Amino acid sequence: MMTSEKVRAIEWSGDRLVLLDQRLLPERTEYLFIDRCGDATRAIRDMVVRGAPAIGITAAYAVVLAARAHIGDNPGQWRTSIDADLRQLGDARPTAVNLRWAVDRMRNTIAMAPDHDPLNFIEAEAKSIHQRDIAANRRMGALGADLLDQDASVMTHCNAGALATGGYGTALGVIRAGFTAGKIKQIFAGETRPWLQGARLTAWELLQDDIPVTLLPDSAAAHVMRRLGLDWVIVGADRVAGNGDVANKIGTYSLAVLARQHGARFMVVAPTSTIDRSLANGDDIELEQRDQQEVLSCGGRRVAPSGACAINAVFDVTPAELIDCLVTEKGVVNAPDAAGIRALFD
Ligand code: MRU
Repeated sequence: MMTSEKVRAIEWSGDRLVLLDQRLLPERTEYLFIDRCGDATRAIRDMVVRGAPAIGITAAYAVVLAARAHIGDNPGQWRTSIDADLRQLGDARPTAVNLRWAVDRMRNTIAMAPDHDPLNFIEAEAKSIHQRDIAANRRMGALGADLLDQDASVMTHCNAGALATGGYGTALGVIRAGFTAGKIKQIFAGETRPWLQGARLTAWELLQDDIPVTLLPDSAAAHVMRRLGLDWVIVGADRVAGNGDVANKIGTYSLAVLARQHGARFMVVAPTSTIDRSLANGDDIELEQRDQQEVLSCGGRRVAPSGACAINAVFDVTPAELIDCLVTEKGVVNAPDAAGIRALFD
């Protein structure tokens, strides 16, 4: 059986990047082998790999590939010539701040790398970003699971699992830890139109671990909360602003409003690399818009009449006042606000 230890979106083979092609799940488990930074940039843009921490880790390894190419092509000027690749990489998707966080970190690593054998130094930093993400997820899993009461019924959205991170997951890390501790009696996952990360990825990933999951159309959340009852909505984040507002997959904001109406609590699970303290609030978070065709079609088949237009806003912002707790690897912030977020970094 494949376990969460084995579900890996990203592997570093020592000289190339191996990405599980998440566009093909759950039907096919296929990997892309990536040797060049530009191919990693495309893989991020085209959703081969997705989820904020996973995008950041992929970018860190992509910088290793870029450094190798530029050191080879331009040994005297590589620290300058690499810059265009890094800029394209950082712009591959706009909302997940982990991407820019990782590229900036790797840029600093390049600046600090010794002239003799810089590549080893740069590779060590990428591996460390990857390993620290997994450790952060395990810590958040334990902290978040502690907050659950016995026999909890939980709902998640999109995929914030091993597939979206270095391994184990953020929101799904909490759900994994809670299930293993025997505290969770029911897990609901929203299907997450249009890419169906909930149906294709979250359900697949949980079932790899024999964790039962019940899918619902995104539009059924209010009905499920009212008729079946729900204790917690548990989601990840693409970016947390300085006041605790959270950008995450489109539909997250609706779930927060519904949770408040139905007496369920709302937990966001995200490492501190997802917090963007340069933004005072969520209004300034750049929210990705993707091609309308993703909404006008389903499973590769057009479902809307020609001439129809669609909104394909990929993320929304949940105001901090609707969030009961933010779980990070540095601790839990209850009722997050600017002071609570600042305290995480003191
Ligand atoms: O468009 P995606 O699939 O990259 O969106 C992913 C999400 O919205 C996740 O919830 C978020 O990145 C947190 S992943 C731990």
